[in-house]
Amino acid sequence: MIAAAAGAVLLALLVAVELGQVPVRLPFPPGVEYDYMAEPPPGTLPLTWDAGFRVEDDSLPNNTKYILQDQIAGVETVALGPEGWLGLVDKHGQIFMAEPDNQGGYAVTPHPLPWASPGRSLGAKFDANGDLLIANAPLGLLQLASPGDAQSQRLLLLTGRVSDESPLSAGYPIEFANSLDVAADGTVYFTSSTDVVPYRTASGYWETSDSVFVSLAKAQPSGMLLAYHPDNRSTIALMNDLWFANGVALAHDESFVLVADSVQMKIRRYWLHGPKAGSSDVFYDKLPGPPDGISRSTDGQTYWITIYCGAEKLLAYSHIRLVRVLFSWMPRIMRLLGQDFPNIGILLRVNNKGEIVEVLGDKQGAVVSRVTSAFESEDGRLFLGSLHKRGVPVVDLKGARAAKST
Ligand SMILES: *[C@@H]1O[C@H](CO)[C@@H](O)[C@H](O)[C@H]1NC(C)=O
Ligand SMILES: *[C@@H]1O[C@H](CO)[C@@H](O)[C@H](O)[C@H]1NC(C)=O
Repeated sequence: MIAAAAGAVLLALLVAVELGQVPVRLPFPPGVEYDYMAEPPPGTLPLTWDAGFRVEDDSLPNNTKYILQDQIAGVETVALGPEGWLGLVDKHGQIFMAEPDNQGGYAVTPHPLPWASPGRSLGAKFDANGDLLIANAPLGLLQLASPGDAQSQRLLLLTGRVSDESPLSAGYPIEFANSLDVAADGTVYFTSSTDVVPYRTASGYWETSDSVFVSLAKAQPSGMLLAYHPDNRSTIALMNDLWFANGVALAHDESFVLVADSVQMKIRRYWLHGPKAGSSDVFYDKLPGPPDGISRSTDGQTYWITIYCGAEKLLAYSHIRLVRVLFSWMPRIMRLLGQDFPNIGILLRVNNKGEIVEVLGDKQGAVVSRVTSAFESEDGRLFLGSLHKRGVPVVDLKGARAAKST
C-alpha cells in the first residue's frame, strides 16, 4: 500500500518534471546561478544524424605516428607555423613551440613560454605575422606575440566580450572560446561554444565535456560565431543560435565561414560575401556523429571534419525533458563509474558542395579516436588534436591513401 503510494508520488513527480511543472536545477557549475531548463526552439529536437553511416576504412592505425608523447598531453588543436614549427597548448594551459628535428620527430624549444591560464585552451592558429592566436575558455581570444623570441614574447587578451555595437549579443561575455580561423585581412573568426563555462574539477583541471550536456539540458542555444577585427579591436557576433559552436574554417575563397554545431550534429555556413552575405544556412547535416574540428585541406577545395563519436545514440532521446535532466548529470555519473563513450576514429573530407569525398577511419579506435581537430601540412601530413591523449597523432596521408587502394 505504502509502496504503491510512493510509486504514484514518484510517477507524478516525473510527469511533472517532464511537463515542466517542476523546475529542475542543473547540476553545474556549483555556486553559479543558472537558468532552469527552457523550451527548446521549435523543430530542433530530437537530434538527428546519419545512423546508417558505416566506416569501411581502417587505414588510420597503420599510418599514424605519435610525436612529443613524453612531453605533452591534451593538445586540442595543433597550430602549423612557418618552417614546420608547431604551436601547442597542453591540457593545463602550458604553451609550447616545437620544431622539426632531423630524425623526423620534433623538439620543444628550451625557452619557457607563458601559461594560457586559467581555463582550457582549445583552438590555436598562427596569424600572418607568426603570432599565435589561442581560443581559451573561459578567458576568450588570446594572442602570444613573438612566440619564437624569449625576449619580446608577450601574451595578450585580445577580447573576452562582444562589443556594444554588435547587432547580436551586444555586450555578452565570451564564456567558452573554442576554435578560430584567420582571414587574409587579419580578421579572426572564432566560436564561443556556449554560455556554460567549463567545469573546474577539484584537481584544478578544466573539463569541457560537461558543458556540452548542460547546454543540451538547458535547451537554450547560446553558441556564437564571432569576428574579431584587429584594426578597431571590435568583436561582432555573426550568429548566436548555435547549441555548441565548435570548429571554424573560412572557405578557400573566404566567401563563407563554416562552423560546426556539435550538439546539433550539423555544419552551418555563414556567408561573408556575395548575394547571401550576412545570412546562414546548413552546409552539411548527414554526419555520423558530433562534428568537432573543421579546417581547409591543402588542395584548395575541400575541408577536413573530425567526428567526436560516442554520444550520438543517446541523443536520439533528447526531446524528452527527463532525459535531458539525466544528460546534464551524465558526465559526472560517467566519471564516477570510470566509464567513457565508445571509441572510434573518423575523419571526413568534404567538398564545397558538402559532399563527402574521403573517409579515414580507425574502426577500433585503438590508435586514433575522438579526434578534436585535423590540420593538413603542405607535405601531406595531418596533425590531429585530442583532449586527453599524450602526444600528437600525425597521419601520413600518402600511406593512408595507399592502404585504402589495396
Ligand atoms: C596494419 O599492419 C599490420 C602489421 O603490418 C597488418 O597485419 C594489418 O593487416 C594492417 N592493417 C590494415 C588495416 O592495413
Ligand atoms: C570595426 O570594424 C568592423 C569591420 O569593419 C565594423 O563592423 C565595426 O562596426 C567596427 N567597430 C567600430 C567600433 O567602429
